[in-house]
Amino acid sequence: MVIAIDGPAGSGKSTVSKLIAKRLGLLYIDTGAMYRALTLKAMRKSIDLHDEKSLVELAKTTKIELEEKSKLHVFLDGEDVSIPIRTPEVTAEVKYIARVPGVRHEMVALQRSIGSKQGAVLEGRDIGTVVFPNADYKFYLDASPEERAKRRLEDLVELGQKANVEEVKKDITARDESDMKRSVGALKKAKDAITIDTTVLSIDEVVDKLLARICR
Ligand code: CDP
Repeated sequence: MVIAIDGPAGSGKSTVSKLIAKRLGLLYIDTGAMYRALTLKAMRKSIDLHDEKSLVELAKTTKIELEEKSKLHVFLDGEDVSIPIRTPEVTAEVKYIARVPGVRHEMVALQRSIGSKQGAVLEGRDIGTVVFPNADYKFYLDASPEERAKRRLEDLVELGQKANVEEVKKDITARDESDMKRSVGALKKAKDAITIDTTVLSIDEVVDKLLARICR
């Protein structure tokens, strides 16, 4: 079974996807973590983020693995980068990597290969539209920009980062815009996806709504 969960930053995708995967005994695949890992490597190697050819070459020669222990761990060429991929510096630069068609081609291939081996819940921006257009279930989570900024701020505080809600709101709104406007793999609701507005819902309520739609 493949479940696709798309939506903008802070819509609740990660938390909900992890819980759904656990409840159904499926693999959880955080596709954003893959784009983040590649961005981290490009930054460390001081690759010009406008040099598409070098970015595609980087994507082709990089090993990205996800491993679930008590939390999801992201490995970049064997190194656990679960923490450094969440810094504001990486968050600000992902868009340059995510807009390159050749990079997306590599990432999508990786996501399809992991997701089709066994059942999986994949979360991202283009899962229901590009990665698994034939997914068994597709959901599009959304919430008001204010609520999404509030949630993202809580995540950042938990990671020990300093930020204020207005800054975070500005950041996620700008990121949504670039995610929606890129020419490939744009953030978009698949025609056959079920939209859930999570603004006033608790995590458990969202999980219950999704599970109610998934026939087992
Ligand atoms: O967790 P958050 O919503 O902040 O973002 P993420 O899921 O970690 O994704 C970070 C960035 O990676 C997004 O803003 C997108 O630009 C990109 N991304 C993408 O292009 N395609 C995906 N399937 C997932 C993420």
